[in-house]
Amino acid sequence: MKNRKITFLLLLVASCSLIAQGEKDLPAYKDAKRSVEERVSDLMSRMTLEEKVMQLNQYTLGRNDNANNMADPVNDIPPAIGSLIYFSSNGDLRNRVQKRAMEETRLGIPIIFGYDVIHGYRTTYPISLAQACSWNPQLVEQACAVAAQEARMSGVDWTFSPMIDVARDARWGRVAEGYGEDPYANAVFAAASVKGYQGTDLASGKNVAACLKHYIGYGASEAGRDYVYTEISGQTLWDTYMLPYEEGVKAGAATLMSSFNDISGTPGSANHYTLTEVLKERWGHDGFVVSDWGSIEQLRPQGVAKDKKEAALKAFTAGVEMDMMNRSYDNHLGELVKEGKVSEALLNDAVKRVLRVKFRLGLFDNPYTPQTTEKERFLFPQSLKIAEQLAEESIVLLKNENNTLPLKNVSKMAVVGPMAKSQWHLLGSWRAQGNADDAVSLFAGLENEFKGKAQLSFAAGCDFDGDDKSGFDEAKKIAAQSDVVILCLGEKAQWSGENASRSTIALPQIQEDLVEELKALGKPVILLLSSGRPLELNRLDKISDAMLQVWQPGIAGGNPIAGIVAGRINPSGKLSMTFPYSTGQIPIYYNHRQSARPHQGKYQDIPSTPLYDFAHGLSYTTYTYGDLKPSTLTIKKGDKLSIEIPVTNVGGIDGLETVHWFVFDPVSTISRPVKELKHFEKQMIKKGETKVFKFDIDPLKDLGFINADGKRFLESGDYYIIVKDKKVKVTLVD
Ligand code: BGC
Repeated sequence: MKNRKITFLLLLVASCSLIAQGEKDLPAYKDAKRSVEERVSDLMSRMTLEEKVMQLNQYTLGRNDNANNMADPVNDIPPAIGSLIYFSSNGDLRNRVQKRAMEETRLGIPIIFGYDVIHGYRTTYPISLAQACSWNPQLVEQACAVAAQEARMSGVDWTFSPMIDVARDARWGRVAEGYGEDPYANAVFAAASVKGYQGTDLASGKNVAACLKHYIGYGASEAGRDYVYTEISGQTLWDTYMLPYEEGVKAGAATLMSSFNDISGTPGSANHYTLTEVLKERWGHDGFVVSDWGSIEQLRPQGVAKDKKEAALKAFTAGVEMDMMNRSYDNHLGELVKEGKVSEALLNDAVKRVLRVKFRLGLFDNPYTPQTTEKERFLFPQSLKIAEQLAEESIVLLKNENNTLPLKNVSKMAVVGPMAKSQWHLLGSWRAQGNADDAVSLFAGLENEFKGKAQLSFAAGCDFDGDDKSGFDEAKKIAAQSDVVILCLGEKAQWSGENASRSTIALPQIQEDLVEELKALGKPVILLLSSGRPLELNRLDKISDAMLQVWQPGIAGGNPIAGIVAGRINPSGKLSMTFPYSTGQIPIYYNHRQSARPHQGKYQDIPSTPLYDFAHGLSYTTYTYGDLKPSTLTIKKGDKLSIEIPVTNVGGIDGLETVHWFVFDPVSTISRPVKELKHFEKQMIKKGETKVFKFDIDPLKDLGFINADGKRFLESGDYYIIVKDKKVKVTLVD
């Protein structure tokens, strides 16, 4: 007995010392107690040139519906790959491939799995352009946090989002993916979404790394066509396109994506100035830049590289650390280092950046995705509530003649149009793992809302396009028997998003004809318009009584829309992008420069003003704005200034109101826009109540401007602070 005890003790001591020995031998990079930088340096010291190069490549894995971007066969994936775009909707496949990276490679470096989680993962939210119309960054942050959790729990560590390209040409299909035409709005939503995705701890298992894209100027695509040239002066680069990226970087965005576009002769993916001098040297970003899909290889057709090798050299030395689906770095980077064309220091810096993000995500310590059921990770009641609220707040009431809406005393309703029963198109482009079956169609939403109150009939009338009018008669028949006609019109989901430019932003003629024929019946006509871009509505404006821009609202779909139609919800959305009078006005945006002859230079054939301005959006209640009250009328450069405005809800119901604060500097060394958004705030104002809105002005940031070198400056003189039609002058003295 005694002997057995001794043997046991000896064994215990031996195994303890083995464990201690093991811990002592644990390479520093595997030791979770060490700092990220220590772990990165240790790992770097162990890596060969080939291993380093492999970290800088991204292939794809899993199912993919995007015909443009096809996935790689699983067996072709080298386990030492740095990253994969992950198209599957659960962790299984990821874990299998990750296991090979962890166990079949010399150093066991985990793969980072990225994916386009743009407006939700499975719980699909409204498209980003619509989200911006909510002017509610807190809500957007919450939506991004839900998307992050669903994605991370499904095997995605990194989202290629937010897209913060200021966009002023609605023909460009990708306007759907960003936050509209204004630099400041894009900056605010950039920061909100980065916070939502990344949270406070990237390694929590519920957060993902964000990726600001497409750096930079992609929104300036000529004539709204995708992948083409962009003409951007240094001045415009800084005063229009940079701010969202600067704020996104400040918010901690782990990564950025270099853009497809040629920026005045130097493509975004070969641009040393933007990628290195500004991003890394000036802003101190220590994460990494991934190319856009094929954007390195595309330096060749863009005319700045003779072959893939030169493209790799240009992109890498400009500051693109990871190669998305170009097969340029894995094929050529090692060779370029050996030839001395790429320095080892630059290679090491790039690899460090990638590893840093992997360590911050906790991938070395928890490389695998825990197995969960769909129920355990998708569509939580709280997530659906956010989806509903965000859709509610992003819908914009464009027009409401004679208070047609909300509907009162209606017993028979004709619901007509190709969008009425669609679930698919309500999800928009880049729907990640969104499932059309989860979406409430406009018809279903109206049915839920009006159950027991009104009788609904349906006729599609026509398709989204084409010239088949055979369904018009049925539509007219049900309309004739109803008190009101609700027309559900708009764009198919695939009409916006990537590679989805249109020469006109009007709806196809057949949809306009349908409205015209139904209007002739003399019934009130309400248009529910679903699209991924602003529309040309001047003809429909004349023949409709009310128009609700519902965008692509995500899975909440018909419920919040019907709530607005019925008056259960008071609409509060305001446009994040101007609705031109007609396509010919494009580019048209509120913050244009001053004209040399403001009273001339108009179009001869159409109005020169938009149909619906930036920030336009009606409510069912009425707000009166009091006078602007500045804390002082004269300030010095270092002083602070605050301005208040009281807003009273004088109508019959409670409402959410957003106040937009603009600045105008009429005389400056560099000419400035007629109005620049500098602040916005949304508050609930109950009927009869007055709320005070306040803008705390930091003169350099809010009154100053930026020059072509990205330097802020502030000049003495008069400035106007503008809210709606109220304006106050403050003077800045030296
Ligand atoms: C798009 C990016 C996207 C990437 C990966 C590209 O075609 O331009 O926005 O993140 O594909 O799917």
